[in-house]
Amino acid sequence: MQSLSRVAQSRALLACFSLLSIADGVNALLSSGLSNYSFPDNFMFGVATAAFQIEGGWNAGGRGESMWDTYIHNHPDFTLDKSNGDVAADSYHKYKQDIIMVESLGVKYYRLSISWPSLFGDLVKIWTTMNEIHIHCYHGYGNDYFVPAIKVHGVAEYLCSHYMLLGHARVYHLYDKKFRPFQKGRIGITLDSFFAEPKDENNPDDVEAAERYLQMRLGQYAHPIYSEKGDYPDFVRERVDNMSISQGFARSRLPVFTKKEVEMIRGSSDFFGLNHYTTFLVSSSTMEKEWSVPSIDQDTGVKMEQHPKWPIPGASWLAVYPQGFRKLLNWITKNYGTKVPIIVTENGMSDFGGLNDYERVSYYNRYLEQLLLAIHEDGCHVAGYFAWTLMDDFEWTDGYAVKFGLFHVDFKSPDKTRTPKLSALNYREIVQTKRINFNYIKIPSYKYHQLL
Ligand SMILES: *[C@@H]1O[C@H](CO)[C@@H](O)[C@H](O)[C@H]1NC(C)=O
Ligand SMILES: *[C@@H]1O[C@H](CO)[C@@H](O)[C@H](O)[C@H]1NC(C)=O
Repeated sequence: MQSLSRVAQSRALLACFSLLSIADGVNALLSSGLSNYSFPDNFMFGVATAAFQIEGGWNAGGRGESMWDTYIHNHPDFTLDKSNGDVAADSYHKYKQDIIMVESLGVKYYRLSISWPSLFGDLVKIWTTMNEIHIHCYHGYGNDYFVPAIKVHGVAEYLCSHYMLLGHARVYHLYDKKFRPFQKGRIGITLDSFFAEPKDENNPDDVEAAERYLQMRLGQYAHPIYSEKGDYPDFVRERVDNMSISQGFARSRLPVFTKKEVEMIRGSSDFFGLNHYTTFLVSSSTMEKEWSVPSIDQDTGVKMEQHPKWPIPGASWLAVYPQGFRKLLNWITKNYGTKVPIIVTENGMSDFGGLNDYERVSYYNRYLEQLLLAIHEDGCHVAGYFAWTLMDDFEWTDGYAVKFGLFHVDFKSPDKTRTPKLSALNYREIVQTKRINFNYIKIPSYKYHQLL
């Protein structure tokens, strides 16, 4: 019974795709508006999800509770819509449908997460050890916006990321020595960063603030792994040391790596995994009212805003500014070179739902165009791109209120029915043609002014 109904579901989903491909044919005739560049032949196109955000099955199969399960069960008001991850998109039971959806997009790569103790090493060829060190440590240890909500700002976030870097490096070397020789896979880490632009590019203070932000926000984690020299960037070391001394701490709030640890972390990644969504305009500041003392915010010392003209289709932090993506790829290339390829492990946009997601179509077209320019005009070594995300999911403190999916999920239906949005069709077209066709999905003219 179970497997029969699954087959029926899959067929229905595929049928839905072939209907939509009739519309494709018509649109394909409108072939002007093609991007000038193509994606390289071996470019890795994929789509990403994360276990906790789609899986559900929180007490199924003998699995223990994660810290997110425990925390939300004890604090049911933690999320915007008082939801939790108990069922989510029910991928625990519907994973086969997930795979059909991935296949239907034409991508060859699916980035998903599994718990560390399961080792599937014989099946998985590309590993990332950890995801978004900054977000995890900043929100979960420096603040209480994320679990485990430690909130020892200015201290705990640095301890957290210090030990995550060490943990990452140990796993890298374990894989490198014990498993790589016969599993022949690749292993790296995923870091995340917004881009920072000087609020006034003619003001040297703002220019310095933008560089300071990027060093603190990304260099702090990237430099120990990807730079020639290893260790924290000199700037970050000095800055946090100085701030700590001036605040009367007996030693720096930024922990110190031993020489051996510096060497263990240096070079411990086969690729530069990058999650990127948006850009901020920054200016120099010594104190803002929402900062705590001490904190990584105050150590960084930049005020962050977004341009009023940048569209914000969903979550309030996610303004659309495609040029920032190209600039961030260039910043990484300038700082760490081209030897290690960048794989964009997440990029995408949130809205409040709906199948005709023109904003998302436009977001992917324009961000991917910037990626093409970074490859072809700037010489950045970008080897892959993963859209965030395959389907609408549990977005942490936002619960199910904002949507990032290429597929819509009906969370009210018992089946958690999934339906492709226009952005899914558009992404499939890009993957298949290795080019962006800006006319493939016709965006109604009344929408244009909101998008550009
Ligand atoms: C392609 O390049 C030409 C010449 O630089 C430019 O005018 C045109 O807008 C570009 N097309 C796209 C889709 O970017
Ligand atoms: C740290 O303090 C020293 C001594 O006051 C100063 O010369 C240096 O520029 C400061 N470094 C940073 C990054 O703030």
